[in-house]
Amino acid sequence: MSTVFLNGDYMPIEEAKISPLDRGFLFGDGIYEVIPSYFGQMVGFQGHIDRMNDGLKAIGIELNWSDRQWKKLCDTLSEKNGAGSLGIYLHVSRGADTKRFHAFPKNITPTIFAMAFEIPLPKIPDLATVGKGYSLISNEDLRWQRCQIKSTSLLGNVLHFQDSYEAGSQETLLYNSNNELTEASAANIFIVKNGIIATPIQDNQILAGITRRLVIDILAKDGSMLLEERTITLDEVNAADEIWITSSSKEIAPITMLNNKAVGDGKVGSIWLKAATLYSENKFSY
Ligand code: PDD
Repeated sequence: MSTVFLNGDYMPIEEAKISPLDRGFLFGDGIYEVIPSYFGQMVGFQGHIDRMNDGLKAIGIELNWSDRQWKKLCDTLSEKNGAGSLGIYLHVSRGADTKRFHAFPKNITPTIFAMAFEIPLPKIPDLATVGKGYSLISNEDLRWQRCQIKSTSLLGNVLHFQDSYEAGSQETLLYNSNNELTEASAANIFIVKNGIIATPIQDNQILAGITRRLVIDILAKDGSMLLEERTITLDEVNAADEIWITSSSKEIAPITMLNNKAVGDGKVGSIWLKAATLYSENKFSY
């Protein structure tokens, strides 16, 4: 039984109750985070908290929690849930109103919920044990124009993810109406061509992924590989030697199939191995 946090108290998940008039429930009116934590050590804690504060500000939820308060909550949740390989989920909704009305209510207290769930422990990157890589489908990105906000309104993402799930794939690669790559339904995307790594620029079409940021920073610091943040066309994606997806729980995952066709030579690539190794060696410094 897992222990969760709700509005100031820790309790078994079965005892956590919220009002049906909570705007998180009625409107998906909230912000969330998922922070990876391995045996009590988090990856990218500060980046996650900064992004949550940016999101709360963007949608006008006032909450003055300090970084230390969030850190204590994450540490306590990890401890109470076995301190293994965990995703720490933080969720702030605008709170429970007395009626259903779209405009922001005045004097409402945000609902703060947090839990920890098991995530796979990342393996040391190795071509012999990595397996055959993920398979993706692609579709036009039909979400909204504010994808930089890590909103709990995830129906757009859920529908795109479901398409891949029903197709027997693991993710949907998304492109905009100009046939430019955006991201995946729950991950950012990188491509590699002729040894050069590229990922879409950070704008309103993609989430400011913390793993994406760490990959860019770690590779820049290492300096042995070239990485560009730029617009990427769907034609470039289809001609890529390697494709990777990044997220807090997947770290850097290699993609070997796109729409049932091999990516590059269909094998997990050598640039992935180098990048994933650097990531795994340096992720705890962020
Ligand atoms: N998803 N893009 C989208 C749309 C995402 O939902 C996520 C993460 C990412 C990667 O972000 P990060 O590297 O900060 O995890 C990109 C989380 C894990 C989820 O919804 O479960």
